[in-house]
Amino acid sequence: MRLATPSGFATEVFLVETPDANLLPEGPWTLLGDERLRDAWRGAGMPEPDHALWVSVDETEKKLRTLLPWLEHWARVPLHREATVVALGGGVLTDLTGLAASLYLRGVAWQAWPTTLLAMADAGLGGKTGADLAAGKNLVGAFHPPRRLVACTDFLASLPTRHLENGRWELVKTALIQGEMVWASEMLQDGPVRQAWVERALAYKAGVVHRDPREAGERRLLNMGHTLGHALEAGSDYRLLHGEAVGLGLLASCLLVEDLDLKPFPAEFLDLLARRLAPLAASVAPWPACLPLLHRDKKARAAAHSTEDHPATEIHCILPRVGEPAIQRILPPEAWARPHARLIQLLAQEAARA
Ligand SMILES: NC(=O)c1ccc[n+]([C@@H]2O[C@H](COP(=O)([O-])OP(=O)(O)OC[C@H]3O[C@@H](n4cnc5c(N)ncnc54)[C@H](O)[C@@H]3O)[C@@H](O)[C@H]2O)c1
Repeated sequence: MRLATPSGFATEVFLVETPDANLLPEGPWTLLGDERLRDAWRGAGMPEPDHALWVSVDETEKKLRTLLPWLEHWARVPLHREATVVALGGGVLTDLTGLAASLYLRGVAWQAWPTTLLAMADAGLGGKTGADLAAGKNLVGAFHPPRRLVACTDFLASLPTRHLENGRWELVKTALIQGEMVWASEMLQDGPVRQAWVERALAYKAGVVHRDPREAGERRLLNMGHTLGHALEAGSDYRLLHGEAVGLGLLASCLLVEDLDLKPFPAEFLDLLARRLAPLAASVAPWPACLPLLHRDKKARAAAHSTEDHPATEIHCILPRVGEPAIQRILPPEAWARPHARLIQLLAQEAARA
């Protein structure tokens, strides 16, 4: 099924169950695939160019040095300017392949065939490609949207449960940004992930990134849960997966609104979030470890009243609201101290109850 996207949107979006060769590029193309998916790709009768590359990349290898052999390989083939690169894998592989495609011959077309729930619902769409530097995640990259995104849900059959849960948090984020409490609660219940949820998330993200491709305003909403989330992810030495850290950040964001004269979230909703997140309690870094990471956040900047003697930082934060769309507020990193403490408390309560 081809999803409706805004007119002029850079990416055609398809959500299907089984991989379909008709959705591959019409002209010359090459494949860069996660070797974990090789059997599933072949098993589905999908074609494979002679010069396809099957690779194994995880988060620790999301580096520029990983791209270089791919670029050299394409140049040796050689891959011409009119060729399309097809990326088959999780968010690490699609982010890296998109970046490589943006660099090769100063930019060739690519297609994203995401194979994790997180990449289907979020990472594969929106044009952000990237790699990590020693100083932090995704510090180098380019806006280079795929021509086509093809999410085949059959690929999820082999995805480990932890990674399925990881992707669920980006879906919950999408519901909370829109104030869709019923949808968020439905996704927090036990039970399988539904294709209709992915469809809704993709349609929403397509609209947002079309209106604000360079994250000058509305697109910032997609960072909900990411402020404290990134600090917790780095503070856990990346033992927490990205989506897991975002989930913790979402609960903290729901708790933060209590300090800002906004309507508090119902206790039952907070419990629902905490119950799903309780198994992660042991990986939550203590506040003294989080604070310096918040000061170094990519979205942090010096506050207007900052001086050399009294440096002050402020961060662009996204706040969920009960039954209403999220809002943006500039806050000091210290604003997260109490939500962080409450987060730990709620997770401990849920863990004791389990
Ligand atoms: N570009 C964006 O807008 C954006 C948005 C969100 C996240 N991201 C990035 O996405 C990355 C995380 O992506 P991810 O969660 O997909 O992790 P991932 O790419 O590391 O994949 C997770 C693991 O699952 C394996 N795998 C992939 N598909 C599989 C399948 N179908 N069956 C079995 N195993 C499979 C991979 O080999 C890997 O070991 C991060 O680097 C993050 O920065 C990018």
